[in-house]
Amino acid sequence: MSEDEKRKAEVPSSVLRSPFSVPKGGIKMPDILVVDDEYNQCVMLQKILKREGYETDIAESASVALEKLNAAHFDLVITDMRMPEMNGAELLQEIKQRDPDIPVIIITAWPDLNDAVELVSHGGASYYIEKPIFETEQLNKLKEEIKRALWARRGGQLEAVDDTEVEEIYAFDKIIGNSPKMVQVYKNVTRIINHDVNPVLIMGESGTGKELVAHAIHKYGKRNSHEFIAVDCGAIPEQLRESDLFGHERGAFTGATERKLGQFELADGGTVFLDEIGNISLTIQAKLLRVLEQREFLRVGGTEMIKVDICVIAAANKDLEEEITNGNFREDLYYRLSVIPLKLPPLRERKEDIPLLVEHFLTHFSNEHNVEPKQITPRAMSALRSYDWPGNVRRLQSCLRQVFVLGEGNTIDIDDLPLEISKQPRGPAELYIEIPEGGVSLEEINKQYICAALKQTRGNVTKAAKLLGITRRILQGRMENHKLTREDFRFQ
Ligand SMILES: Nc1ncnc2c1ncn2[C@@H]1O[C@H](COP(=O)(O)OP(=O)(O)OP(=O)(O)O)[C@@H](O)[C@H]1O
Ligand SMILES: [Mg+2]
Repeated sequence: MSEDEKRKAEVPSSVLRSPFSVPKGGIKMPDILVVDDEYNQCVMLQKILKREGYETDIAESASVALEKLNAAHFDLVITDMRMPEMNGAELLQEIKQRDPDIPVIIITAWPDLNDAVELVSHGGASYYIEKPIFETEQLNKLKEEIKRALWARRGGQLEAVDDTEVEEIYAFDKIIGNSPKMVQVYKNVTRIINHDVNPVLIMGESGTGKELVAHAIHKYGKRNSHEFIAVDCGAIPEQLRESDLFGHERGAFTGATERKLGQFELADGGTVFLDEIGNISLTIQAKLLRVLEQREFLRVGGTEMIKVDICVIAAANKDLEEEITNGNFREDLYYRLSVIPLKLPPLRERKEDIPLLVEHFLTHFSNEHNVEPKQITPRAMSALRSYDWPGNVRRLQSCLRQVFVLGEGNTIDIDDLPLEISKQPRGPAELYIEIPEGGVSLEEINKQYICAALKQTRGNVTKAAKLLGITRRILQGRMENHKLTREDFRFQ
């Protein structure tokens, strides 16, 4: 056995299975502080956590906990709710003031359940768990939540992600865009894939690519040899939805002449994508919560618990928090789902990606129709860039398809575009400006801006000057000042 294998063998397997990467130099177990005024509870929990491979310490009161937190580093705190002097809620507040990132899990008995839910919703707690916690089911939940909370903390801390992996997702799945907001999406997707964590909640307006991203998570994840089943939660009539998701037994209802397996069972080992999750009824939400927590369910009319091992990805373009306020969505389900939220930016917030998307779609259409790619004029591109795209990428795609099919000739100009895009009130073109961390001189920006205009006009100085709103002579003067050669604005 090599040294490395020996070292790994000493680590409890539960930790190796947990979503932490094992650093090359060795393994540093996360430190957990357990706070409870009942000493025996503390010790029992400490033993259980030790068995899981965590380093732990205990505090019998909130004030001792704060002293320990001051003196040493902890990765997570588990605290009881009811304690004399300072209770769990007050302790949470103190901790969050000192370190807003440290995850805190609240242990609560049912009389304080509402307070605990409130602490998770608005107080910064990661999770609450109901007593008695020393039952297998509750303990499993706690263990899972610890992993999750620690993962989320690490994920939030700019954990290194290999750029080649990010690039693969970008290239392979045709998710187009290299704006900072999309790069952040790729990084989060890569983390989700690497750590095989779920459920994942993908939020974003219609047409922002939620389904595309869900496919990428499945395709690159460990479950890609199993099914990816997409369920449009809005499309199936309510009375059939339960049976569609969970299956039914023969005779469960009129017309149920045979046993039928539901999507969750069919996808066992793979991924279930619950599209438009905001559309499911409260009854099914309750059943879904059980699937997410215990990975088991009953078929409609059945008595046998069906266990499944699946990755659940949900998507929503409704504002689920608003749905909770309106009483249409269970809060506990929302928190369960949104442990790993992925927010896709609307196209108007990443307009710098529009040229890439346009090029991608035009190439795609020309391949599809087996014709020469069409060129797009700078004026038309500029109109596409300044439009706000209420239907996001889907609308951009359908608009270009329409223009591609209906337009004559090899060039797409501004008049070929739909009126709402070509006749937008013309203000100054919208610019995407992000100043790099180390700063950048105005002179450099001036130079790069001129280069961009020259690239866009394929080296045509007159046209570039027009784009920049200066005369050709002034542009030539600036090109000389910047010592620009053709190499600097080489066009592809
Ligand atoms: N970043 C992207 N790169 C390339 N194509 C994209 C991108 N985002 C979306 N698309 C394309 O736009 C269309 C809509 O995407 P998708 O169906 O994933 O959106 P959605 O967020 O699920 O929308 P809805 O909420 O309306 O269901 C698809 O054809 C998809 O391929
Ligand atoms: Mg969709």
